[in-house]
Amino acid sequence: MAFDGPDLDRAAEILAGAESLLVLTGAGVSAESGIPTFRGAGGLWRNFRAEELATPEAFARDPGLVWSWYRWRRRICLEASPNAGHLAIAGLEDRFPSFLLATQNVDGLHRRASSRRMLELHGSIHHSRCTGCGTVADLPADPGPEDAPPPRCAPCGGLLRPHIVWFGEGYHEGVLETAFAFARTAGAILVAGTSAMVWPPAAIALDGQAHGAALIDVNPEETEISRAADVWLAAPSGESLPALLARLPR
Ligand code: APR
Repeated sequence: MAFDGPDLDRAAEILAGAESLLVLTGAGVSAESGIPTFRGAGGLWRNFRAEELATPEAFARDPGLVWSWYRWRRRICLEASPNAGHLAIAGLEDRFPSFLLATQNVDGLHRRASSRRMLELHGSIHHSRCTGCGTVADLPADPGPEDAPPPRCAPCGGLLRPHIVWFGEGYHEGVLETAFAFARTAGAILVAGTSAMVWPPAAIALDGQAHGAALIDVNPEETEISRAADVWLAAPSGESLPALLARLPR
């Protein structure tokens, strides 16, 4: 059955009346593409939790282990396809002259769904960064065997790391500032698929709401953001976002 109801009507009304839209997404948006979320079932790899591997300390201790985990995750991302939720977000971009997508996801699926005005708050699983010279580069199309040695920088020979913001690290320059500034002037903020456990991303949405944006949350589970939201669509993003897009005037 298609997703419907008064909450959807209200969310569509908010979007139809807004001149600028910020969309903030998390791992839940990619769950229907088969990519495990961080805190849900299926996020474990060889009995490690993400919090034990996505840290500078884990990389310093055992770069080979961390690269194995990223190769495993990257292969899942490459084999996955954008779902109806990603496509609806790309469709929303076409409806708003002033639009920004800020995603916590590193999987690249928003880009593959044709989102363009976007910030990857936590970097990309498809890019490496040299720990020596700092060069950021695309990783090879094929992630290769999980247990291959950690890759090295072609120009300088330094150890490469994933170009991802790990726990305990600062954000890449300018990214948060841009997201907060946009949120503060947005008419509406649509959050989808995040547990809101990681700050500052969750704070971007709440700060925007404090500055006057109407807040909509899409998540089958209750979170701090769904509690604060003006409208909570308690359904998977692959169902509710296309339904929301279909309600908007063309
Ligand atoms: N549609 C919408 N939401 C969903 C769906 C779905 N189909 N399936 C699951 N969810 C929701 C879950 O209810 C949960 O609230 O997605 C959320 C996923 O939460 P997390 O796994 O915590 O992912 P996220 O919020 O993106 O995590 C933030 O933490 O470790 C990190 O850096 C990593 O970017 C990540 C950050």
